Amino acid sequence: MAAPATADSIRDVNTRYHDRAADSYDAKWGINFGDTGRGQVLGKVRKALGEDVPVFDRALEIGAGTGYFALNLLRAGAVREAVCTDISPGMLEQLQRNAARLGLEVETVAADAEALPLADERFDLVLGHAVLHHLPNLDRAFAEFLRVLRPGGTLVFAGEPSRVGDRIAAWPKRAAHRVAPAWRALVRASAARPHDGAGAVDLGLEHQVDVHVFLPDDLARHARSAGFADVRVSGEELLANWFGWANRALESTAEPAEVPMAWRQYAYRGYLFLQEVDRRMLERRLPPTIFYNLLVAARRPA
Ligand SMILES: C[S@@+](CC[C@H](N)C(=O)[O-])C[C@H]1O[C@@H](n2cnc3c(N)ncnc32)[C@H](O)[C@@H]1O
Repeated sequence: MAAPATADSIRDVNTRYHDRAADSYDAKWGINFGDTGRGQVLGKVRKALGEDVPVFDRALEIGAGTGYFALNLLRAGAVREAVCTDISPGMLEQLQRNAARLGLEVETVAADAEALPLADERFDLVLGHAVLHHLPNLDRAFAEFLRVLRPGGTLVFAGEPSRVGDRIAAWPKRAAHRVAPAWRALVRASAARPHDGAGAVDLGLEHQVDVHVFLPDDLARHARSAGFADVRVSGEELLANWFGWANRALESTAEPAEVPMAWRQYAYRGYLFLQEVDRRMLERRLPPTIFYNLLVAARRPA
């Protein structure tokens, strides 16, 4: 039986996995720094806050990866200066390459979210996307977020997996695996061949980097017990998520180079369309807990 993961081993595996994933991360997840990406990131921050996004002077991103949130917010003018932190130096190198290509300046600091080498009360906004579920000790992390925010400053985290949403998403994945042979015949792709070497190692690590799925109350409790006020938890992506996971499950069964571009475009456009359906029709009416992604916003008391 494998030894239980310790906080140090979780950090170590996250660093190694994301260092290796850095080069292909943007292509794999469709990270976009054009109008689409900017619209998506602004939309998520607006949704988390429950109001229009103001301009923040100094922002700190936690687990910034290749810059999806910070670089899009800088481009949108919603953030004037950004410091991007991540435990993976490889991700931050890719972030700096993206920033250079976009003509943006950004400071990067390789650091664990639970021990930020940054001064107290330095930021107006602390934010992150898809990072809290990787952190072994969330109480320590939230205490750090509070410490580096100025009084009255804003906290925003988006893209955190919801426990119920994650369970529901297993159905479309299973259905996709069942119909995969017929789908491959339709798009004329052959079955994925087993890979060895670095790819195989990554696949092993992929299952070790995620350490939490959340109920909305879990996120609210961590924020409140750290001392945050005005805590707000919302949910997003239901139909878009089922569609996205089903397509990813199908694609994972085929040789990547043989998946037709027309299919990839259909999958991407369909996902964006269903995101709009979720946003306009479902997110306001249904409880956050059933959505796939959770968002939390809060304020450091003045
Ligand atoms: C799923 S990726 C998200 C990256 C980026 N925020 C995005 O949305 O594309 C998670 C990121 O969290 C980082 N991470 C994992 N554990 C961390 C920790 N303990 N402290 C800081 N960053 C961490 C990873 O290196 C990775 O870049």
